[in-house]
Amino acid sequence: LLVWGDDVSAEPALDELFNYDHRSSKAIVSPFDLWKQMRRECPVSHSDAYGGFWFTTRYDDVKSVLADWQNFSSAQGATIPNMPFRFLPQHMDPPLHRSYRALLNPPLSPREVRRFEGWMRELARKYVRELDVDGFDVCQDYVYQYAQRVALRVIGFDAGDIERLYHWTEVLAISDRQDESSLRASAELGQFLSDILVQRAAEERRDDLISLLVDAEIDGAPLTAEQAQSVLALLTFGGLHTTSTALATALVWLADHPEDRARLERDPSLYDTAIDEFVRFSSPVAHIARTMTADVEFEGRELKEGDKVLIGILSADRDETEFADPDIAQLDRSPNRHVGFGVGPHRCVGAHLARQTIQIGIEEFLQAMAKFSITDHHAIRFTGGEGRDLVNAPMKGTRR
Ligand code: HEM
Repeated sequence: LLVWGDDVSAEPALDELFNYDHRSSKAIVSPFDLWKQMRRECPVSHSDAYGGFWFTTRYDDVKSVLADWQNFSSAQGATIPNMPFRFLPQHMDPPLHRSYRALLNPPLSPREVRRFEGWMRELARKYVRELDVDGFDVCQDYVYQYAQRVALRVIGFDAGDIERLYHWTEVLAISDRQDESSLRASAELGQFLSDILVQRAAEERRDDLISLLVDAEIDGAPLTAEQAQSVLALLTFGGLHTTSTALATALVWLADHPEDRARLERDPSLYDTAIDEFVRFSSPVAHIARTMTADVEFEGRELKEGDKVLIGILSADRDETEFADPDIAQLDRSPNRHVGFGVGPHRCVGAHLARQTIQIGIEEFLQAMAKFSITDHHAIRFTGGEGRDLVNAPMKGTRR
């Protein structure tokens, strides 16, 4: 029997029950029922994993945490466990953060991104053309080939660097970040980025983000080599590990739902809502982290200064209190206030590029293929760290 003074709140028992780990197979393979239960029964839970953190799952909470950078700071990192180096401007708070965004927003504005349309389409066509339609992996053979090359070209890497860059960033995304392979990947990536920046400083500038960083100033002072390297590292992560998952998810959905494919072909204006719906539905940055700068009571829990908080972006984007039928991709969903690109000061700087990459990737695939379907649903595979990357989906098809 309970006696006076016993803790009668349900949460501690539920904390133990869930003890959430975003890097466990449950969270990577089939998290949706678990998150639904957490949103309902224990919207902010405590986990003992990785030294302890809070996990927030509801749409409204996720939005308010992301907007409240004063209490939920990015300056101590945005992953759990932390990356072995600092990304700029993700790992900083306003006001300094604003100066970095003033540098990065203009070259990734909708107008600038539209200039890339011609070569993006060429690239997508090339990789659709090369598919062996009797059996291909839509992620590995098409989506990653195309979408990663788009990002690398906008950033300014050579296409030949794709494998090394993907390897280093993949190790850092999914490993525990303190082990030998993470530290090696971090050192090699750092050296590679630093060499590229030095080399570009001695060469003619090009129309890309590396050239922008070489000459960049923040508040009147040139970027230091370390600062430029940290921005470049973040752009590389953002470019390589996000858009591909949203595009691959779209193609898997359309393979399973030919009626939606037919609707898109009949009415291309549907792309205006469909692209953001695929971003909501996949939310490739499934989690992001913050650190408390003050003691705050939140959803009845006592968060203390220094506590880590993991924010469930994909859980929020499947919250039934905000989205009707959240587990269905409704191509005409409107309004669609998803949080897939983040909220507040750190909202994704690459969102316009991502949208255009996804749309062209779908259009060119549909243009070339009369039919396509998944050949083995059990072979669809995700990998995870904070993100949830769709990395394999076997298909077959017929060309037009
Ligand atoms: C579907 C594709 C994408 C998704 C879902 C996505 C998602 C996100 C999210 C959720 C954030 C906020 C992180 C935070 O609050 O800490 C973010 C920030 C960022 N993203 Fe993306 N992203 C995508 C594509 C890209 C691309 C293609 C690039 C690079 C060209 C990029 C570069 C960045 C950068 C630099 C930031 C940091 C902005 C800041 O801290 O102010 N992203 N992204």
